[in-house]
Amino acid sequence: MGKIAAITGAASGIGRAAAVRLVAAGWTVTGLDLPGPRLETLAEELGGAFRPQPCDVADADQVATAFATIGAATPELHALICCAGVLRSGLMAEMPIEEFDRVLSVNVRGTWLCARAAFPLLRAAARPDDPARVVLLSSIAALRPKVVSGAYAASKAAVSQLCRVMAAEWAPAGVLVNALAPGTVDTPMVRAMADPTVGKGYQPSGVSPVGRIAQPEDVVDVIQFLLSDAARYLAGTIIPVDGGTQAAFVPPGPR
Ligand SMILES: NC(=O)c1ccc[n+]([C@@H]2O[C@H](COP(=O)([O-])OP(=O)(O)OC[C@H]3O[C@@H](n4cnc5c(N)ncnc54)[C@H](O)[C@@H]3O)[C@@H](O)[C@H]2O)c1
Repeated sequence: MGKIAAITGAASGIGRAAAVRLVAAGWTVTGLDLPGPRLETLAEELGGAFRPQPCDVADADQVATAFATIGAATPELHALICCAGVLRSGLMAEMPIEEFDRVLSVNVRGTWLCARAAFPLLRAAARPDDPARVVLLSSIAALRPKVVSGAYAASKAAVSQLCRVMAAEWAPAGVLVNALAPGTVDTPMVRAMADPTVGKGYQPSGVSPVGRIAQPEDVVDVIQFLLSDAARYLAGTIIPVDGGTQAAFVPPGPR
């Protein structure tokens, strides 16, 4: 039987691309996201190997229900990929309190709630020669915070720290926790920022030294590596997937 994964934020961007890739590779995937047509469309596209699970990851009751449903279908979960996230921009002196709270609540609390609920299922799937995996989505913002996105940067720094601590606490149970720190990825999250009323002056990190921004598939390649046997000894790592963006400051102007 193929492996089983849960992916949060599966209806869009990186999470969607990960769901498509894993189903194509023979995994059965439960995709958690806010209820709506995007999740249903993906389910139609991917067929029976994809199970849509409407869930607000910031809501503890909904997360408990979602993972109880997953556990009732199968008591083992080989991988959890936490892609659900929100980006809200704004100067620290001006950001509405409810927007700050939403960013922290989805990105940090939501990541922890899902990992915590998944842990018993992941531990049940773990084998000495084939540990279960958790992949969290941190960001370049955790390594190099930017003006006009302080709440987001703080949330992603928190995700990186959750990754490190969960990795050390869960590796003895055979559950390997790692995170990715992408630079700009071409997804609806970033595209929405082009609208000045949404972006409020936010500038994405943009084109990397590699010469382009990332596509979701560039990130999914590294997720797939973290799920593979080749990553069996990785725990608590936060891998930049940014084409060298944070490696060194590149001053503007001709070179
Ligand atoms: N796109 C980038 O440039 C970039 C860079 C670094 C990190 N990331 C991170 O990667 C992850 C995926 O981002 P993306 O670019 O694919 O964004 P996206 O907006 O395309 O997808 C995010 C998904 O999360 C879902 N979501 C939001 N709040 C939710 C909630 N409360 N409960 C359940 N689902 C919820 C959204 O509905 C959406 O489907 C995020 O954590 C993001 O912070 C993105």
